[in-house]
Amino acid sequence: MRRTAFALITSTIILFGCGENMAPETDTQQNNQDQSGCSPMYPEMDVTYDKFVKGVVTKYCISCHYQGNSPGPGNFATYSGIKPYVDFFEARVISNQADMPQGNAPLPKSIRDSLNFWVQNCAPEN
Ligand code: HEC
Repeated sequence: MRRTAFALITSTIILFGCGENMAPETDTQQNNQDQSGCSPMYPEMDVTYDKFVKGVVTKYCISCHYQGNSPGPGNFATYSGIKPYVDFFEARVISNQADMPQGNAPLPKSIRDSLNFWVQNCAPEN
């Protein structure tokens, strides 16, 4: 009995020790923040507006999210036009309950996964 308690305490100490060793990794991530204080969650995924998102929105969104009298808000044809709407992407475009593109939601899972990488990586332009 006493030996079990000793083993438990020892392994707890070891676990906490490992936790402390992970601290420098967190520091490195914070140094990768963009100007708005966002750190990319999937740095290995190279999904940008120019390389991927622009093609998706051109095909599925711009008919409604263009400018002037279009039914949807914003102009998704430019990076600066879509940027203010990125925060809404998880709920409206990426989740299983997505309702965009209106009348045709949700997008195929592989496209939504890539859009999720883009959003979680702070929505880079190029
Ligand atoms: C058939 C027209 C239509 C299409 C296609 C469409 N949208 Fe929309 N969208 C709308 C309308 C209208 C609204 C505003 C009403 C609302 O929020 O439901 C809207 C709202 C949104 C919003 C919320 C904006 C806000 O300020 O809350 C987002 C984000 C969005 N759309 C993203 C997209 C994306 C991304 C696509 C393409 C994958 C897309 N939409 C395709 C019509 C459309």
